[in-house]
Amino acid sequence: MKRKKLFLLSLSLTIPFAHLNYLQARESDNSAVIEVTKEETKTEEKINALLAKMTIEEKVGQLLQPIPFKDNSEPIKEALRRGEIGSFTIVKKTPMEPEFYNELQKVAVEESRLGIPMFFGLDVIHGFNTMYPNPLAMASSWDDALVERAAALAASEAAPMGADVTYSPNVDICRDPRWGRIAETPGEDVLIASRMGAATVRGYQGSDLSAPNTMAACVKHLVGYGAAMGGRDKQFTEISDRTLLDVYLPSFEAAANAGASSFMAAFNDISGVPASANRYVMTELLREKWGFDGFVLSDWDSVIELMNHGVVAGTKDAASTAINAGLDVEMNSTCFSHIPELIKEGKVSMDVLDEAVRRVLRIKYRLGLFDNPYRDVKAAYAAQMTDENRQAVREIASQTMVLLKNEGRILPLAENSSIAVTGQMTHTKDLYGHWKGYGDMKDVVTPFEGLVANKLKGMSVEDATINEVNADIAVVCIGEESKDFGESDNMADITLQPQYIKAVKDAKAKYKKVVVVVFCGRPVVLTPIVDDADAILIAWHPGTEAGNALSDVLYGKVNPSAKTVVSFLKHSGQVPIFYSDRLSGRPRNNFYNDVDANPLYPFGFGLNYSYLTYSKMRVSSNSMSKDGSITVSVNIHNQGMDCYEVVQLYTHDIVASVTRPLKELKDYKKVFIKKGETKVVSFELKASQLAFHNLKLEKVVEPGEFDLWVGSSSANEDLQHKSFVVTE
Ligand code: GLC
Repeated sequence: MKRKKLFLLSLSLTIPFAHLNYLQARESDNSAVIEVTKEETKTEEKINALLAKMTIEEKVGQLLQPIPFKDNSEPIKEALRRGEIGSFTIVKKTPMEPEFYNELQKVAVEESRLGIPMFFGLDVIHGFNTMYPNPLAMASSWDDALVERAAALAASEAAPMGADVTYSPNVDICRDPRWGRIAETPGEDVLIASRMGAATVRGYQGSDLSAPNTMAACVKHLVGYGAAMGGRDKQFTEISDRTLLDVYLPSFEAAANAGASSFMAAFNDISGVPASANRYVMTELLREKWGFDGFVLSDWDSVIELMNHGVVAGTKDAASTAINAGLDVEMNSTCFSHIPELIKEGKVSMDVLDEAVRRVLRIKYRLGLFDNPYRDVKAAYAAQMTDENRQAVREIASQTMVLLKNEGRILPLAENSSIAVTGQMTHTKDLYGHWKGYGDMKDVVTPFEGLVANKLKGMSVEDATINEVNADIAVVCIGEESKDFGESDNMADITLQPQYIKAVKDAKAKYKKVVVVVFCGRPVVLTPIVDDADAILIAWHPGTEAGNALSDVLYGKVNPSAKTVVSFLKHSGQVPIFYSDRLSGRPRNNFYNDVDANPLYPFGFGLNYSYLTYSKMRVSSNSMSKDGSITVSVNIHNQGMDCYEVVQLYTHDIVASVTRPLKELKDYKKVFIKKGETKVVSFELKASQLAFHNLKLEKVVEPGEFDLWVGSSSANEDLQHKSFVVTE
């Protein structure tokens, strides 16, 4: 250890504090000590040498990020030649083509004074050309490896086309499904968001950020965006310091620890301090505490919108407030063009400007843009929408579909069952959600096409006996169109819309059995149809292979294993209700005269086609010290078909210095259990996983008794219970 310490100290001569702090932060947690490579040292020296040559205007240029279009490319190129632009945000109207990328990059690298390469940033949210399901669906897989694989697939298509930075993952915690962007989040739970966010960062960035098929993650939206008041997008938030630290920030810290290259500051205020002007979050926590050494990008106009928040009087104040708080790159608006004056007036120091530029240059070096600034055009197009990518997203999508009801085990459908496919979304291709990637929805396999393809089995389409008048079973495809959710698409009433309720009722009146498939972006309220449906499958917006993945699940080629990561409520008026709620002075009872306080389907719930029995929950000890651990085991017997099962471990701190959630997910494992097998699933539960922020906002593990559960959902009826004690 001494040697490493010495080694780190010797580096302090050339590496600025933040970067050294990052390395020490990594060293202090002893988990993944980063051996400071000679290359990193050389990079820092190159950065410093470049900085020394840069004019103030060139430095500010690295922090400005306009939106390039084909028709404005001449002025854009002029600005690149003058070193006044460091990167671009790509939007739908911009040609996302390697030729356009190379055209702009050539100007930046070969026609500007210092030849600093630019980068493209864009929203690769759940795929680039070949699309997989929305992030909320991906999290429902509870499969870190699957999420990482999907992110790597997205990068393999996006990076060669010019995506240097993707504005993803979104690791916002969301407990208000009225918010349109819940579809983009990993849901209501801290651990799910933390592990899914970290897995996505790993998938995008791979082991070599300079490789042609990897791209930098830009983790968003820092922080608290999912707590927008009333579920109204971009509204203010009221988040206590403790809730900020225990609920909203952990997933961002997990992404930082996974090596994320950048963060995006959020639109919202954080209890009165706008995220894009929030020094506590962007500097004190992100840099000084977590040791993050990449850059923070604003959201679209979130710097100039500080004026709307009423915390600055004009664009000049907006610039000084944002950059002094730790925001480095301004997306779209150009308040940062005031920085040269602000430097002269002493309102922004040269050190602050240099540090912001250093962070941008550091990521550009790590991306390899100085050594290899151009895209291989031929390889880029060859990487798009390959057969293996389509097969991959078909498998991925089938792992995200949540089976909520299966009365009389009507599913899986028998191969020769006579079915009628009805409902407004039967033939839809609108299954990419809000962020449609850079592909074309014409590639989508519709629900009907998928179901027909499965029934074809060598028959011609004419022979395919589908949509029979006297069919036994109706498969009703309904849900939400992409216009019903996403940015700014909030719903005050999240009940299934009337036309879809009618589609189910009509099917119920006409057919013996009804299977409802819900293509939704949020956990819509299903109460009006729950009794009419014999089966309910939440298919989310599954992406390019939607119909085939649906068919694989409905016909049992894939045994569904997904579990919801958001509570499905009984009534819109219950919002917000989530599993990790805190207790009150009175036992939990009916909060409302017209509906109880329980969800229709709870967090962590999802059925499969097997018959699983949990038994013999046991612990290695009934107590552990504050730095100790215990092993928790349970037996699971599978009498049905082979399946994957997501085994969940929850705890509850019974008495603590502050009120604590009645349940918290502390670990989960997705295990494969063969037909007839009894699987023993074990977890190591460390006392450190029980830490929270106390009255003084110190992160502590307190001694005392804990509830401990293991099971198949957060509902008590699905859990085995034990208790244990943490000793001093
Ligand atoms: C949007 C979103 C953000 C996105 C950015 C660029 O307003 O808030 O998630 O990455 O602008 O499109």
